[in-house]
Amino acid sequence: MSKKINVGTLISGGGTNLQAIIDACQSNLIDANILFTGSDNPGVKGLERAQKAGIDTFVVDYAGIIRSCKKGINDADLPADFNLEEILSKQKLVEHIASKEQIVFFLKTRAIAERKLLDIILAYDMDLLVLAGFMRVLTPYFIDRINTEPGIYKIMNIHPALLPSFPGTDGYGDTFRYGCKIGGCTVHYIDYGEDTGPIIGQKAFAIEDNDTLDDIKKKGLEKEWELFPQCIQKFADSQNKKSRNK
Ligand code: GRF
Repeated sequence: MSKKINVGTLISGGGTNLQAIIDACQSNLIDANILFTGSDNPGVKGLERAQKAGIDTFVVDYAGIIRSCKKGINDADLPADFNLEEILSKQKLVEHIASKEQIVFFLKTRAIAERKLLDIILAYDMDLLVLAGFMRVLTPYFIDRINTEPGIYKIMNIHPALLPSFPGTDGYGDTFRYGCKIGGCTVHYIDYGEDTGPIIGQKAFAIEDNDTLDDIKKKGLEKEWELFPQCIQKFADSQNKKSRNK
């Protein structure tokens, strides 16, 4: 029998992808077990879905952290192991769109929030971290503390477009406004860029001439709910293969 992998999840909203993963775990469609669901946003429906399934939940309130950082950041607020020069040299998130001062503020505020996430997440024995509609970019500070084995990716994300087209936060909106005749979704690993990591799986759907943005979102989400569990199973299969070959 295949060993189950331990999956952590992060969300920001409704959590329909999370629900698809919960259902796939509960019906043994995939060899995975969800350890926790964290959110950057208090009170969202996805947290309720997790609690209903008996999954540990927590919130790191990014908006509150960013508000308090705007009043000023002292060195003492930063994680003890935060190295600005190192993170600056690795990050590929905002280099073309912001001044150095804005990038530094962004990286510092995110590191403060990310340290809070790590303090909770690293207490679990986790194989894979799944971003199921987590609408915050993760910086190298966080990524390096999850991806600790060189060349091994452990953070998986779902993106609402066929990458490399339409990275960013509004994949279905961008697909619609461009007038595409095919839309889709992508599951990929997280690297230091925005939606640039290695692709694990994709699904596409046809867009009819009279489809609205809502139609596209509906078609896309249905594909996401199939694709995400399949990609988690792909990861589980590769872990099981590795442990058999040891
Ligand atoms: C999905 O469309 C996902 O691709 C995007 O955010 C949405 C989350 O939906 N990143 P839900 O919270 O899983 O319902």
